[in-house]
Amino acid sequence: MLLGKEQDQRISNARPDKGKWRGRTVIRGNQMEQYVIRGGNPLVGEVEIGGAKNAALGILAASVMTDETVYIDNLPDVRDINVLLEALAGIGATVERVDKSTVRINGSTISDISVDYGYIKKIRASYYLLGALLGKYKQAEVPLPGGCNIGSRPIDMHLKGFKALGAEVGIVHGSIVAKAENLHGSHIYLDVVSVGATINIMLAASMAQGRTIIENAAREPHVVDVANFLNRMGANIKGAGTDVIRIWGVEKLHKTEYSIIPDQIEAGTFMFAAAATGGDVTVKNVIPKHLEATTAKLMEIGCEIQEYDDAVRVRAARKLTRTNIKTLPYPGYPTDMQPQITATLALAEGTSIVTESIFENRFKYVDELTRMGANIKVEGNSAIINGVPKLTGARVSAPDLRAGAALVIAGLSAEGITVVEDIQYIQRGYERFEEKLKGLGAIIEKVASEKEVLKFRLRVS
Ligand code: EPZ
Repeated sequence: MLLGKEQDQRISNARPDKGKWRGRTVIRGNQMEQYVIRGGNPLVGEVEIGGAKNAALGILAASVMTDETVYIDNLPDVRDINVLLEALAGIGATVERVDKSTVRINGSTISDISVDYGYIKKIRASYYLLGALLGKYKQAEVPLPGGCNIGSRPIDMHLKGFKALGAEVGIVHGSIVAKAENLHGSHIYLDVVSVGATINIMLAASMAQGRTIIENAAREPHVVDVANFLNRMGANIKGAGTDVIRIWGVEKLHKTEYSIIPDQIEAGTFMFAAAATGGDVTVKNVIPKHLEATTAKLMEIGCEIQEYDDAVRVRAARKLTRTNIKTLPYPGYPTDMQPQITATLALAEGTSIVTESIFENRFKYVDELTRMGANIKVEGNSAIINGVPKLTGARVSAPDLRAGAALVIAGLSAEGITVVEDIQYIQRGYERFEEKLKGLGAIIEKVASEKEVLKFRLRVS
């Protein structure tokens, strides 16, 4: 949908053609690709952690809110990021890939405020463009994201926030259409703690007239990173990281350079891989404070932890023991680390209970773990895990991003060969996952055919 009359002069200097996409083309996940793993090797060594995917998604959306050039580095080279960069170019922004983890973006060439359905279908977080475009152009159209494999994932809180800021919001032919003469500050109370709604409302409010207060805001590190980025562009946001965020809207945002924070979930995934394989791994380029809930649980189940300024060492010195967990919004135990600890507790002594309080359908992977010999029963939103002496390799399928990573952890600790299918989910959020694991001594390959699986079996047996 083209911009309305009143917005035309705002971007009259926009080039008629769409945005430029400079740099390599996007690598799309290959449905056939699989990981094949021979388990049993303890993971040992050091691994560099990349930039936080869930911070980068909000920051990339925010980057087009200025007509000046923004320079962002420490971007993770993962599918979700590459798809969102395509979506930015798709609405006309100029996107220049400097290298695999650095990009230059200029939003002055945006010529369309409606995001193509194809992008939303690939990643839900394209919906951050709603808040960004509404904030900048007072108009936005983004297809309604569907549910996904972990739950229905409504966005009612996002829309409630936009309406409170003065936008008219409707669903037209499957798209959310938001429009405002002017956006004004408001006092918004989120009924549920929502990372997405907190970020999306913060984006729109940063260019509204007056003061906005978001109560019951999400406190995740990636919410803080988006707020810090917006402030570096000239926004005026206070309180990010607490449950009350105050935003004084500004007329314009300007250029900046920024580096994404390290990914606490990637770090935690490698920490549990170390625990599950009886290994000794140091995750580097992390912020230990962001890992506190994960570190506390690893110590509880018998791991030794050493914290440094920007690294954490995990040693699974002895047999792991049981624990109970309930996933909670930050700083509680993260839902994105729920599958990883469940796979680890499958081998711990005793009975553990993992309760998922954020999403309604995040235990689909348990059936796959059962095929590897795990003794887990899902009752409502809890998984009751009776530890077993060992897991055995099997052919399993990744139902979603973090569950896929958990199945790799199970394969690394199992006896024999595991084949993980549908790894395009894992590639959405983990950069060079198999390479980093190999660097820690894992016997794992990414393959694209049964023939290659056979060759792997012959080579490692
Ligand atoms: C973000 O999703 C993350 N995704 C998720 O990570 C993460 O699991 C989740 O936050 C919780 O930490 C990105 O940042 C791209 P929410 P988001 O809004 O923002 C309900 C991964 O693995 N809700 O905090 O969609 C919702 O149904 C992904 O990287 C509403 O009811 O999560 C859920 O029960 C998976 N109405 C709860 O709130 C709304 O308008 C928390 O969801 C919004 C959310």
